[in-house]
Amino acid sequence: MRPRITDTTLRDAHQSLWATRMRTEDMVPILEELDRVGYWSLEMWGGATFDVCIRYLNEDPWERIRVIKAHVRNTPLQMLLRGQNVVGYANYADDIVYAFVDRAAECGIDVFRIFDALNDVRNMEVPLKAVKNTGAHAQASVVYTLSPVHTFELYLETALRLQDMGADSICIKDMAGMISPYAAYDLVSLFKERLQVPVHLHTHYIGGMAIGACLKAVEAGVDIFDACSGPLAFGSSQPPVETLVRALQGTEHETGLDLHHLFEIANYWDDLRRRRGYERGVTRLNAMQVFDHQVPGGMITNLVSQLEEQKALYRMDEVLKEIALVRAELGYPPLVTPTSQVVGGQAVSNVLLGERYKMVPNEVKQYVRGFYGKPPAPIDKKVQRLIIGDEEPITCRPADLIENRFGRMKEEIEDLAESEDDYITYALFPAVARKFFEYRKKVRDDEDAPASGLPPGAATGVGPDAEKKVAPRPVGPVKRPVGPVPALRSPAYGASREDEDMNIEDVKEFIRLVSQSEVNELHIETAEMKVKIKKGAAGEDSPFKGANGSNPGLAVGEADQAGLPAAGEPRTAVGESRANLIEVVAPMVGTFYRSPAPDAPSFVEAGSRVKEGQTLCIIEAMKLMNEIEAECPGEIVEILVENAQPIEYGQVLFLIEPEA
Ligand code: CO
Repeated sequence: MRPRITDTTLRDAHQSLWATRMRTEDMVPILEELDRVGYWSLEMWGGATFDVCIRYLNEDPWERIRVIKAHVRNTPLQMLLRGQNVVGYANYADDIVYAFVDRAAECGIDVFRIFDALNDVRNMEVPLKAVKNTGAHAQASVVYTLSPVHTFELYLETALRLQDMGADSICIKDMAGMISPYAAYDLVSLFKERLQVPVHLHTHYIGGMAIGACLKAVEAGVDIFDACSGPLAFGSSQPPVETLVRALQGTEHETGLDLHHLFEIANYWDDLRRRRGYERGVTRLNAMQVFDHQVPGGMITNLVSQLEEQKALYRMDEVLKEIALVRAELGYPPLVTPTSQVVGGQAVSNVLLGERYKMVPNEVKQYVRGFYGKPPAPIDKKVQRLIIGDEEPITCRPADLIENRFGRMKEEIEDLAESEDDYITYALFPAVARKFFEYRKKVRDDEDAPASGLPPGAATGVGPDAEKKVAPRPVGPVKRPVGPVPALRSPAYGASREDEDMNIEDVKEFIRLVSQSEVNELHIETAEMKVKIKKGAAGEDSPFKGANGSNPGLAVGEADQAGLPAAGEPRTAVGESRANLIEVVAPMVGTFYRSPAPDAPSFVEAGSRVKEGQTLCIIEAMKLMNEIEAECPGEIVEILVENAQPIEYGQVLFLIEPEA
């Protein structure tokens, strides 16, 4: 049997190695060659590409599909859809999912690969239905991970349900490169025996098992596997297509692809890689050690940077052990965004604060409340009580609690939107979209100014002179990283894989997104962005909802007892006259955000009266939002930190005069 291949060079490969920075104009010159190869599909959209296009590249992501479609006439175009999270980081309302999928299909997407981090099929219901409605190929994924509950029987049961729900094919999605060649053989054999639809294997190179896994999967009868061009393969990316094609030559599983042609294409990519100054994919030891501790490489990279930030890198071994424990207590979620942040952040917090679940980030509370979906195994009851007390977790499909809002959002952007594309872009990433539209308008209005940048339409590189346009882009009025040194390529984020670890920009966007449905106002202001969330309709999905959790306020002295290393910054001196005041100190290094009080329409200000347990502020640390609550009722005397400022461990944030 002849296996087919999906080429991921235009999406997952550069998302894994180049922080998703490949531009449409980089792709155009080689598209017609790619179309001639005979791939089953070209994965070229979705995942992080949408966000990165508008946030960093000043490119219209919808235009990218149309441009690629114009050059690729025969090979189906494929995208990665993060279930109800679409191409973002939180659940969206159903009407936005439908609008997005419809538009993507209209623009030229032929294959939608859908997944959910928890394999909760309810989070894939609406996306699947939406894709089926368009007539496109709906590929549903089973996320592969290792745990006592993730048995082959469970994967099969999930796959059978997805098939019943109308999936046209099933993808085994191993985003962490954990599937061994022999596990791949057994799982594919089982799926081939029991499923009627084609089976597709997606894996990552990381520790080097991917080549073996693909070969054994082929032996077991896999219909399609993913690979990419050599210059963008290896490391945290896909296995190289050239190696796999060669390995199968002369066997009954011959792919029929022309190796010489593949090398011509590889030369193009290698040339681009050099011009852009990007590294080849490399397997580092700590990424390979996934075989030992099972924590995927991208997550390790993030833990290293988080621990360095907290001056506690020497505690990595403890954190790795704690991750295993927290993951088990939380019901064995696969360690992939967003659940890798949930587990990793809690584990780091447990180790650094010296008391397990003393501080619980909002994302963890929301996970335990059921807003991410159903955990693969039940959550440990004791831990659940520590995190959300007696609160009952939801049992419905999380998106059932999100009201449709596309119509309302369209109205918000009527001034700048020029098409249906723009409305959807805005519905997904409102703040970033608005900035992008403003930039686009400014460029157009400013046509005479030579340094103002190309209008997006002209920059997509369609047409015979496309190759000439590869030159560095002029920097527009919106300051964004251009060229090969984007902020995302710091050691912490450069290795982000498929379901990439969030970078700080993503976190900011995430706060904004999830707070859309918050009842209060939220203002976030940083050097790059200014976000104002106006009071909207209350949604049940907001991680900011219900701060009545278990997060104890931290007052002076308390953090000292936690046995943390000494603070980098001296504490604010408290004068004689203030001896009765309570200092609220930062329990961690992070970024300070003023927070709206959960039960009041305004921010906590100097002079505000606060209740015990009321949220005073949010500290973003370790990529998670930690609510700092008042330990006792009283009056805020002073706020000692500006909004969005970085803070040190032990730094005094508030002075509170306790109620007598
Ligand atoms: Co992937």
